[in-house]
Amino acid sequence: MKKFFLSIALVLFMFRTYADEGMWIPLLLGEQVYKDMVKKGLKLKPEQLYSINQSSIKDAIIIFGGGCTGEIVSDKGLIFTNHHCGYDAIANASTVEHNYLRDGFFAADMSKEIQSKISVRFLNRIEDVTDRVMKELGNTNGMERAQKLIAAQSSIVKEVVGGDEFKAAVVVSLFKGNQYFLYVYDVFKDVRLVGNPPESIGKFGGDTDNWEWPRHTGDFSVFRVYMSKDGKPANYSADNVPLKPKHFLPVSIKGFKDGDYSMIFGYPGSTNRYETSYGVKLSTDINNPVLVKLRDMRLKYMFSEMMKDPAIKLQLASSYASIANYWKFYDGETKQLLKYDIFGQKQNTETNFVAWAKGKAEYENIFSDYQKNYEAWRPYATQAVYMREGIMGSPLLAYAASWSGLEQVLSKKDASKEDIAKAINNAKVARENFLKDENKKSDQNILASVLMMYNTDIPKEQQPAGFYEDLFKRFNSIDESPYKRYAADVFENTMAFDGNKWNDFIANPTTAALQADAAYKTSMAFVKNWNVNYISKNQAFVNKNNDLGREYMKGLFEKEPAKMKGTYPDANFTMRVSYGNVKSYQPKDAVKYDFVCTLSGVAAKYVPGDYEFDLPAKFLDLYKAKDFGEYADAKYKDIIVTFITTNDITGGNSGSPVLNANGELIGLAFDGNYEALSHKLAFDKDLNRTICVDVRYVLWCIDKLGGAKHIVDELKLVK
Ligand code: ARG
Repeated sequence: MKKFFLSIALVLFMFRTYADEGMWIPLLLGEQVYKDMVKKGLKLKPEQLYSINQSSIKDAIIIFGGGCTGEIVSDKGLIFTNHHCGYDAIANASTVEHNYLRDGFFAADMSKEIQSKISVRFLNRIEDVTDRVMKELGNTNGMERAQKLIAAQSSIVKEVVGGDEFKAAVVVSLFKGNQYFLYVYDVFKDVRLVGNPPESIGKFGGDTDNWEWPRHTGDFSVFRVYMSKDGKPANYSADNVPLKPKHFLPVSIKGFKDGDYSMIFGYPGSTNRYETSYGVKLSTDINNPVLVKLRDMRLKYMFSEMMKDPAIKLQLASSYASIANYWKFYDGETKQLLKYDIFGQKQNTETNFVAWAKGKAEYENIFSDYQKNYEAWRPYATQAVYMREGIMGSPLLAYAASWSGLEQVLSKKDASKEDIAKAINNAKVARENFLKDENKKSDQNILASVLMMYNTDIPKEQQPAGFYEDLFKRFNSIDESPYKRYAADVFENTMAFDGNKWNDFIANPTTAALQADAAYKTSMAFVKNWNVNYISKNQAFVNKNNDLGREYMKGLFEKEPAKMKGTYPDANFTMRVSYGNVKSYQPKDAVKYDFVCTLSGVAAKYVPGDYEFDLPAKFLDLYKAKDFGEYADAKYKDIIVTFITTNDITGGNSGSPVLNANGELIGLAFDGNYEALSHKLAFDKDLNRTICVDVRYVLWCIDKLGGAKHIVDELKLVK
């Protein structure tokens, strides 16, 4: 009886997992899912999706900056991506006087486009290099294997890239180290800001609405990629010309219905769908809550300074947004993992695996080994999060830690004059960058708090020896917290902020002077404690997990060959395709969410002067006049601002094109919904939704709100 119920549960679980789930490798679409895509509505031939011989959709998809996706939408290299992907570039282009972040910006013509630090990558080719990598790895395990892998990866990359600064390559692991693929890219480094809506549109709803549906954010920005006159990737030069792309996406303003086909190309960053119950439990018990608690504190101090002064708001905006984004994500992930008992679901899968593995020497101990590995690491997990999110969460301590490279050079007996000069020069540049972004007030508060929280949450025997004894000896006080006084002392005395002290040091750099610096001393107390006592434990834990994961996946391929052959590997920031439908959903009992949000909905959320829900006067005028141009939806008689689909995406996909059955752009993916925030570890076919900005809203913002019709005229519109 019990067994019967268990297998029913498993069948249901498998069914639940395999609906619009999947981040498919473009190269393998034909073998794996093309037929199903057609069944769902796709009208294109396989070679129109991905081809190496002719231009295809893949040629219009780019890696935008460090962690986003973008798409080419005109024959002059015009790029659409998210506002939050362009955010840092927009903030960098802004000053308090010309505040493009706050007020929006559209270049009147190409000469007014603004140079940025962003580079973009086009996928050149994909190659299966499993045999070669496996040969180099041999039968190794643990640290030895990890080191051999790094060596193998870098030798392949070197071979492919040589010294070409406009080429890039990565060798990535698939199925937890059971397969390796090489991806080769062309890198274009002249990317200019063409335009963006005001932040009140591009980030409308702020962190309150982030990761949630219904949603009313106009999350887009526009860039352009340039090439050299002779058609090659190039660094910025006034002589460069707009890129002539192999392919660009037509833009449909015809609209769509609930249930229509939708397809997303892009660069999902990471998922761990084969995470074990042990991993889930470590996340919900320790990793996520500790991260959330530390980010919560950092954000509060940053926010209170940002509210006082527009210059500080501009200075901290980008860093604040990225800390806040995953603060809310991990809080939501924990809640959803617990709510849907993902731990229990994973345990069921594991029980089933263990039963199958019985008597198979290669596999039968995998889960008892997992258990041992997690038990050994668990006592130190909080320390690890504290180092990353707490100690290194103080920008000053993170910056001071970078001086350890300098210390190494200075303490080398045979260091040449050039080596020292180079290290000093690097330190100078690093200091300038640090000071540009540094807000002392919030950072000092963060430091005081993190020192206090660390002392409360980390067991005495894991703390840096003598650190807190010294702190209390020097700064004990009944008036003010010793932590606050300690932090004040660090900020008062470090050479990081004191130009005279810094210049004295640079003129005569010694290890003794460095080691005496208050910020360096503080940072190193924690860093050394970590390096000496915990880093090897952490590496052992990670390497063992990698070995077990590889075995587990191999076992799954043996256990369920047909199913596994037809499946997709976890996201690893390589190009993937996801297909599904535009679709409404039911988030909870008695509640149904429509598949679109409208301009009227934006206006309804308007709160004058609010940090997150304010709107530009021009927006309100256009809305009142119902000046929708040709961008209104025929059925809704309103502008559709956002919509949702069942596509399987994750962070990194931000900015990805959402395409209809003909491969025409209908929107840009920019978020996931709260009810499915456990999606990195378990896809939920009923609740998972991708949140997209409707391209008709994008065009309305460019044309009507931004007065930049010439940009719309550059597109190939399908009406
Ligand atoms: N959650 C979005 C993503 O990760 C980013 C949204 C940015 N907005 C914000 N309020 N932080 O793609």
